Amino acid sequence: MKKITVIGTGYVGLVSGAGISDFGHHVTCADIIDSKIKMLQSGKIPIYEPGLSDLVERNVKAGRLAFTTDVDSAIQSSAVIFIAVGTPQGDNGEANISAVEAVAKSIGKNLNGYKVICTKSTVPIGTGDRVCKLVNESMPVDGEFDYVSNPEFLREGSAVKDFLWPDRVVIGATSEKAFDIMRDVYRPLYVNEKPMLHTNVATAEMIKYAANAFLALKISYINEVANLCEKVGADVHQVAKAMGQDGRISPKFLHPGPGYGGSCFPKDTHAIAALARKKGSPMNTIEAAIVTNQDQKKRMVDKMRNLIGGNFSGKTVGVLGLAFKPNTDDVRESASIEMIQAIMDEGGTVKAYDPIANESMEEFFPELSYCQSWEETCKQTDGVAIMTEWNEFRGLSLEKLKVMMNSPVILDTRNILSINKLIEFGFQFDNVGREKS
Ligand code: UDX
Repeated sequence: MKKITVIGTGYVGLVSGAGISDFGHHVTCADIIDSKIKMLQSGKIPIYEPGLSDLVERNVKAGRLAFTTDVDSAIQSSAVIFIAVGTPQGDNGEANISAVEAVAKSIGKNLNGYKVICTKSTVPIGTGDRVCKLVNESMPVDGEFDYVSNPEFLREGSAVKDFLWPDRVVIGATSEKAFDIMRDVYRPLYVNEKPMLHTNVATAEMIKYAANAFLALKISYINEVANLCEKVGADVHQVAKAMGQDGRISPKFLHPGPGYGGSCFPKDTHAIAALARKKGSPMNTIEAAIVTNQDQKKRMVDKMRNLIGGNFSGKTVGVLGLAFKPNTDDVRESASIEMIQAIMDEGGTVKAYDPIANESMEEFFPELSYCQSWEETCKQTDGVAIMTEWNEFRGLSLEKLKVMMNSPVILDTRNILSINKLIEFGFQFDNVGREKS
């Protein structure tokens, strides 16, 4: 079994580190943020991710997983170093890789013998060359390494499952030795016959961007289809279902909604579009998907405003769901941010609720009134907007809701409520691409 260090304890780093230790390797997760490491050392998980806490606990108990701020020692004592630090969006749309560069330099400084350096962070194509250059410049004379790109396809909310049961593992490596070492790291998956793709570094980097941008494009496409459905009296659910029955299209990622959010799609679409422009090979499809997504978020605000009488001023709106999708506490780029901002800017009052993400949203809107249940949120409101498809909202009682609201007005941006029931209980309602009142 190998000794492995994962640098960066965000979603990708923590899930990957814990997952690799579950494969039987000895993993050290290293981070320069002291508070995060202290929390992890005391058995607490800094992010909400189903199954992660059990995975971490199991492997810490087995002595295969540890946490440290001593990045240098962790590098020195490992055979494989994963880089899993953040690559936020820079000013020009391109990903900012300064954290990756800093890690590359410290790996170089601590390169005692041969190691595999592997990037998991989503990085612009060409970053591999940059990392190699920085390591080469800072390493001692006896240092030796191979570089690998091993992009991650984790979805927040199901990251543990995605790591332990991936559709494929992509390994971009020019050296056979490094590829063999990586195949060993992922041996349990390999034994289960999970496809392991061996590519060059640029191809592996490209696969990640191309896959994410395509999924974002697919969502923007179905959102535009939904918008057109509204104009022609078609039902987008039936359209999407029939489209998905064509094996070439697949039914996944064809759910219309308020526009995609999260830490990946918005950032990665901007990054690939910026890169494509820079290389003189623009991706018009992705540029369009980005604009469509921004418009979709605005459309939701327009829908809510129309439903409530053309003006938010003096009105109270309940916002159900703050996370960018269910089963996560992440609110980054969530469509609910746009909604809340518009209501407040236009003189309305917001009552907000998310089963998990209230605290995360407080960072964006500290002054907002946060509730602890959908009932408390909807009481005495002039309208309600469902922004995230948490299961508890799927089952909310329209009968109860109607009585507690000032007037029965609801925007279902995730199409989770029964239209027949909304009609039966006399709601004034709207959704995305389906029949409205
Ligand atoms: C995504 C990719 O799925 C994952 O492979 C990659 O590694 C990181 O980015 P994530 O951002 O966690 O994962 O969430 P995902 O489930 O893909 O959803 C992204 C956004 O798209 C959410 O806002 C979601 O609500 C929206 N979405 C998704 C839709 O609007 N419709 C769909 O059909 C699917």
